[in-house]
Amino acid sequence: MPNRKFRIFATADIGDATFHRLRQRGYEVEIYPSPEPPPKSLIIEKVRGGIDGLITTLRDPIDAEIFEAGQDTLKAVAQYAVGFDNINRADANRYKIPFTNTADVLTEATAEFAFFALAALARKLWTAEHLVRENQWGYWHPSLPFLGDEMTGKTIAIIGTGRIGQAVIKKCIGFDMNILCYEAMGPNDKLVAAVQEEMDLRHQHGLQRERTSIKYVSMDEALSQSDFISIHVPLLREGESDTPTYHLINERTLHTMRPTAYLVNTSRGPVIDENALAKALKEKWIGGAALDVYEKEPLPPDSPLRDPEIEDRCRLYPHFASAGRTTRLSMDPNLGMAGRCVQGLIDILEQNYGGDVTKMPYVVNKEAFR
Ligand code: GLV
Ligand code: GLV
Repeated sequence: MPNRKFRIFATADIGDATFHRLRQRGYEVEIYPSPEPPPKSLIIEKVRGGIDGLITTLRDPIDAEIFEAGQDTLKAVAQYAVGFDNINRADANRYKIPFTNTADVLTEATAEFAFFALAALARKLWTAEHLVRENQWGYWHPSLPFLGDEMTGKTIAIIGTGRIGQAVIKKCIGFDMNILCYEAMGPNDKLVAAVQEEMDLRHQHGLQRERTSIKYVSMDEALSQSDFISIHVPLLREGESDTPTYHLINERTLHTMRPTAYLVNTSRGPVIDENALAKALKEKWIGGAALDVYEKEPLPPDSPLRDPEIEDRCRLYPHFASAGRTTRLSMDPNLGMAGRCVQGLIDILEQNYGGDVTKMPYVVNKEAFR
């Protein structure tokens, strides 16, 4: 148990059980009561007021202003998300304030959502249900009023083969898909060998008719040779990396895709140039797109993605991929974002791992403490 009362401010309600756990340990916890994000000025005020820990999520800009306000008092920022592009890592490091994230626990939920979103898009589930609900289903016909495209046996491009990309790959094996991988950091040969072995075994045992394959290829090859494209890269802006991902999907790369290709993005919105995508959908350079993330969130009312002309081939979701009950709420740090977020906070504040930040599993910016 902590030997003094830690004070925490949470910018969002991440579940009663979380706060109960902290309060049981003697922490004083304040939760921003509105479902909307708090103004940045309020976060600064709380940090300046001397809180020990700040629970944040992807909608809170956490930068030098915040770290400066907490330079003598703020000990930890616990991010309730795997992505942390809202946190300025260089600023956190400059002020030597560790921050944590909730990687791993949302991998499968996000991967299955990406897969389902592609399936719903390609098989036209939304359009088909509208047909029934709007009393437009007047007859049964072999090919009218429209057909969808199957996923089974097709080729999928996995752009980014980190945890989430790999989890999508596992699901694609079960659908007898050929897999083309692209990864800026270079190929994962162990992954390719293991997946190919599983594919071969399925084929040998008659569980799939055709022999399928997985390989790493260039970005252009992956985009130009696939029926489905799923994006799993972090958002890296120009100057943040040698391989930035900002507007990775743009007019040029959209033009390399097949006119029948379906694209899904569950990573970060700015990885896609939305104006280019809206144009690509309108002019039918590609078959369709399903988006869970946007350049600006929530999606503005005047977004070109809302154009009724592309409604049948553009699915829009509210940054929802990890929004499964277990994934969001479980207090088990191996299962839930809530559990992992508070455990990351407790590790830092209570100096677990001998107080060695570099040994704490959920701390992201370990480099600042070596
Ligand atoms: C969701 O987008 C996350 O980064 O957890
Ligand atoms: C990215 O953070 C991933 O988990 O693939």
